[in-house]
Amino acid sequence: MKFAASIAGLALALVANAEPVMVHDAGNDLNKNGKLDVYEDPAQPVSRRVADLLGQMKLDEKIGQLWQGHMMADSEQVFADRLRQGEVSSFLDGSSLIETPVMRNKLQHIAVEQSRLGIPLIFGHDSIHGFRTIFPIPLAQACAWEPELFERTQAIAARESAAAGIDWTFAPMVDLARDPRWGRIAEGFGEDPYLGALDAVACVRGFQGIPQSGTVDSNHVAACLKHYVGYGAAEGGRDYNTTEISEYTLRNFYLPQFKAGVDAGAWTVMSAFNCLSGMPASANRHTLTEILRDEWHFPGYVISDWDAVYELIPHGVAADEAGAARLALTAGVDMEMVSSNYLDTLKAQVKQGTVPESVVDEAVRRVLTVKFAMGLFDNPYVDEARCQTAYLRPDALALAREAAAKSCVLLKYENGVLPISKQAKKVVLIGPLAEDAAELVGCWSSRAHAGDIGSFAVGLREKLAADAQMIVARGCSIIEPDSGKTRRQLGDPTPIIEQATGTNEIAQAAALAGTADVVILALGEPRDWSGESSSRSDLGLPGRQQELFDVVAGTGKPVIVVLFNGRPLALPRIQEKAAAILEAWHPGIQGANGVADVLFGDVDPAGRLTTTFPRSIGQVPIHYNHFNTGRPGTGEYKGQYVDGPSTPLYPFGFGLAYTTFEYGPVALNVPTIKAGDILTAKVNLKNTGTRAGTEVAQLYIRDVAAFAGPRPVRELKGFQKVLLQPGESRDVTFTLSDKELGYCDTKGNWLVEPGKFQVWICRDSASGQPVDFELVK
Ligand code: NOJ
Repeated sequence: MKFAASIAGLALALVANAEPVMVHDAGNDLNKNGKLDVYEDPAQPVSRRVADLLGQMKLDEKIGQLWQGHMMADSEQVFADRLRQGEVSSFLDGSSLIETPVMRNKLQHIAVEQSRLGIPLIFGHDSIHGFRTIFPIPLAQACAWEPELFERTQAIAARESAAAGIDWTFAPMVDLARDPRWGRIAEGFGEDPYLGALDAVACVRGFQGIPQSGTVDSNHVAACLKHYVGYGAAEGGRDYNTTEISEYTLRNFYLPQFKAGVDAGAWTVMSAFNCLSGMPASANRHTLTEILRDEWHFPGYVISDWDAVYELIPHGVAADEAGAARLALTAGVDMEMVSSNYLDTLKAQVKQGTVPESVVDEAVRRVLTVKFAMGLFDNPYVDEARCQTAYLRPDALALAREAAAKSCVLLKYENGVLPISKQAKKVVLIGPLAEDAAELVGCWSSRAHAGDIGSFAVGLREKLAADAQMIVARGCSIIEPDSGKTRRQLGDPTPIIEQATGTNEIAQAAALAGTADVVILALGEPRDWSGESSSRSDLGLPGRQQELFDVVAGTGKPVIVVLFNGRPLALPRIQEKAAAILEAWHPGIQGANGVADVLFGDVDPAGRLTTTFPRSIGQVPIHYNHFNTGRPGTGEYKGQYVDGPSTPLYPFGFGLAYTTFEYGPVALNVPTIKAGDILTAKVNLKNTGTRAGTEVAQLYIRDVAAFAGPRPVRELKGFQKVLLQPGESRDVTFTLSDKELGYCDTKGNWLVEPGKFQVWICRDSASGQPVDFELVK
């Protein structure tokens, strides 16, 4: 069955009607010999507990452990009965039902105390970039080039989620993305597998903590690496679309983040919606079993994405629900999210012999392993008092502000325009995002409350002297009502009724600009124009915002543009005419303050892009780590387009500071290395400006001739954030071992081949001079 119904509040009614039939007494239920069963004994190792429990389970109960239900999917009585029959493994909170653990505990009581074996539920939720404290979108946080930042923000997301009764988050999204049309680019780390892998590990550590005992403690949640795999390569950038990825590219670009997350101990993986190179990812035995299990030895369980098992039918690889269930389960999907094809068909299929019970057992074993390892059997309930004080704590808000500032990327500035002087007497702030605070939270707003979010106008105002004047004008609507496009309210799917840009509204805003000391334009995209099912066929600013910019910039006043968006945009006219551009992304509930900190120079702009910004949509997909062609061409045009450059507007790694840096030549300790040696590469980095500033020094290599397949024209292999005072210079040193020079062949072997390499230490992926070295046998 595919999930369709939607009846909010059902769960509350269900809980009220739950019958108090006590058949099991959470964790201390004595068996007929007067002892605890092995599975109930916390002193026993997880594998023994799993085996003992599995041995006692009926087929129905086993199949129940493979289903994640949504409370809105069934009638009240059916759902309560299912809990009592042990037919539900997990609960997905896709609605606004969970903000306290009260109801969660009540449901857990039914599962633990009124079912035969008392197997606890595991509660999942999308805490992607925060729960109540919403941090910048992941793509923004990645631009900090500081994986520890993710560890800290996700630890807060975990703390708040756990207090609400959530055991498991469907994050991090580690999909590599090269196409800004794809709305979910906002949820990932960008286009680089090296940086993406570091960020993936940091997120897993943040969510799960670093357990001493092997369990996930009460301040943490299980992580879920998603969407396995290739989802980010959707053809045309259209969400859910087919992907064609060669095995070589899959292994070298799309899989490394997943592998790193598995190695970091992520407990779960989510199988993706997309068809991957001829087989849907949720029925793809090669990726789900041959790679994930056989090669990587992933010990946790795989959950399908929402209805993705059922969707094998419209994908055209299963004739019916039984076929879909059989295909997904035997491929390696252990738990089905929302659609109920496992629940509805597996029992009959096992009885008929079309699905071996051993396959069911193996999936159940994985699910139970995670539930035991997380401590759910021993501590199934959540302290209900904790949520009273868990949200929006001062450390969370301070971190949200820090993260917003660190996510900002300065794309352009002319001297003197930034940072803005706190002595400015008249600031004119124009744009649809000046006062619309709700749009700043980004695509996964989780439990954001509109009242928690500061508007950009308020954030700026707080930086100015009391006698300074700040005038705010909308200038135009973020999207025009007659465009047929919509955006939704925060926490409510109802479309917003747009107020069309008024006659003369743009001209009046431009007139105001003429009177200002400082003109700031707050432009961008609605929060729900990126994220799931929010792809775009255009990379310009929605509505009349480009026109607003053109008219305001046409006054001749230097204009500071602040962009609040969820994807790279193609804005060549703004690059040409703005005096300054700050990419602030969707920065979260403290975004206004964090961005203001950067604009006024209280925090250095130290963010660097982790995704290429194209000049036009026709360049997409575009990414720095591409392979060379046989005819690479030179210059901006490279002989590729007759009607425009091939180079991007801003390359991967790009970002400016309020000062300038100079890189000396790269010096190597030795010109050749062999296995076991360490290559040291060093540059002298100097702050040549008059302000202190932080540079992100980036190390790239190129393997000039590789034999199992070409290597990218550049590959990131290291980076360092370096704070330098005016005039200060410092040697920045990186090391590389022969292992880091390798790559994956199509069988998953890590190849380290002798030959020539180049190395750069530079400010971004398009700058610097390489030096050569050789790896010898
Ligand atoms: C569908 C999305 O693709 C996935 O990322 C999310 O975790 C699930 N829905 C659950 O909400």
